Amino acid sequence: MPPWPAVKTTVVDHPLAQQLLTRLRDEGTDMASFRQTADTLAQLLVYEATRSVRTEAVEVTTPLGPTTGVRIAEPPLVVPVLRAGLGMLGAVLRLLPETATGFIGVARNESTFQPEPYMSSVPADLGGRDVLVLDPMLATGGSLEHTCRILADRHAGRLTCVCVLAAPEGVARLGATGLVDEVVVASVDERLDAQAYIVPGLGDAGDRLFGRG
Ligand code: PRP
Ligand code: URA
Repeated sequence: MPPWPAVKTTVVDHPLAQQLLTRLRDEGTDMASFRQTADTLAQLLVYEATRSVRTEAVEVTTPLGPTTGVRIAEPPLVVPVLRAGLGMLGAVLRLLPETATGFIGVARNESTFQPEPYMSSVPADLGGRDVLVLDPMLATGGSLEHTCRILADRHAGRLTCVCVLAAPEGVARLGATGLVDEVVVASVDERLDAQAYIVPGLGDAGDRLFGRG
């Protein structure tokens, strides 16, 4: 057992999610299909990540009469980690159209594997608001640790990281920060390779979504 509390990790092992993940892993999936598949999978992941959001009662009238329904009381702030997190944003905004979006840009240095931040557009004080952080890849965990530290410094409430894939090393690192309430992911893969890529993984998520620029 590690000397820190493990972060709650929810693996979305539903067959529909796993079929989409398999398409993302396939090196033969082209950029357009990859983007569309990532978008569809993100919907399933966010569905799970928002399972415990607070709702409030609303009155509605059906063609047969009045009844009580629900609406999400305080939609979480959504923060995609640039670039690859943008591949998950559209799905979230379709499901949570009233939510606000912040942006954090961080590029992993591919020699040192350290996160190199290049932009941040997040409210200075989140006032306890819950946040959904979107990044398809949790590898060493450096990029998400950097992101979650910014959000915690700005008084975020519950922090949920929504990822397509994680390495055990990255999950452990986020757990060690004590900042993250939950990681929702389609798979925790075997390990990192010598280049800190997730194995078996799906390769470079940003490049597969958007090309090499
Ligand atoms: C990828 C990925 C994560 C990060 C994961 O982004 O989207 O943000 O690497 O690695 P880590 O857990 O070891 O930090 P990258 O830095 O390649 O940038 P990109 O999204 O612009 O392609
Ligand atoms: N970033 C990626 O896009 N893929 C990995 O496997 C690791 C980091």
